[in-house]
Amino acid sequence: MTARIAVLASGGGSNLQAILDYFDALDDVSATTVALVASDRAASGAIDRARTRGIPAVSLDATQRTGGMVGILEGHGIELIALAGYLRFVPVEVTRQWRGRIVNVHPSLLPSFGGAGMYGLRVHQAVLAAGVRVSGATVHFVDEEYDRGPIIAQWPVPVTPSDTPGTLADRVLAVEHVLYPLALHAVAEGRVTLGDDGRVRGAPEPPAGCATYSLSATPTASSVHELFLNPNR
Ligand code: GRF
Repeated sequence: MTARIAVLASGGGSNLQAILDYFDALDDVSATTVALVASDRAASGAIDRARTRGIPAVSLDATQRTGGMVGILEGHGIELIALAGYLRFVPVEVTRQWRGRIVNVHPSLLPSFGGAGMYGLRVHQAVLAAGVRVSGATVHFVDEEYDRGPIIAQWPVPVTPSDTPGTLADRVLAVEHVLYPLALHAVAEGRVTLGDDGRVRGAPEPPAGCATYSLSATPTASSVHELFLNPNR
């Protein structure tokens, strides 16, 4: 199965870069292509990264951010859409037409710390203010509401006593860069799908070499300690 992906981004585009690097490293080069990068900001790092790679890059005007987005996506033959730090609401024309083929990454364990206005450092400020010990990253299908679509994958990230919003953001972002390409690849290949009942079928492969973080393994006292309580991590 192949997939032509559009990545929508507003900011620096580090998740876009992680996606590009991931698909570059795959043996099967024909399988999946980032065929379009679109941004609501002309001066975004994501647009720069796309142009450097020779990937078609579009700076979306007001019409293209709303109903006109469908025509752009269709014009580039887009089959799968990945939101990567895209801060605008995605028009319902798009979320309906690409239902089950549009995904987002969010820097918290949804449904906590998501929704309108929860983006960037605000997410991590809210996590720290709540005093939770674990945050994380979530990849989910996108529906008509911010950060509410069915969850595909999550990965925990410990919150340390000395964390600032910035240090926590960096730790979560590093996980996003691993988790998001894996989840996107699984959706692209049809290993993860969204059923008519709104439930997710299948799961992405866990990241390689993360035995301690294997959520399928039975936790032991030492693995829990290593994951969440080790003061020397
Ligand atoms: C990421 O934390 C993502 O989860 C959030 O916005 C940030 C985007 O970072 N939605 P980048 O533009 O991919 O570097």
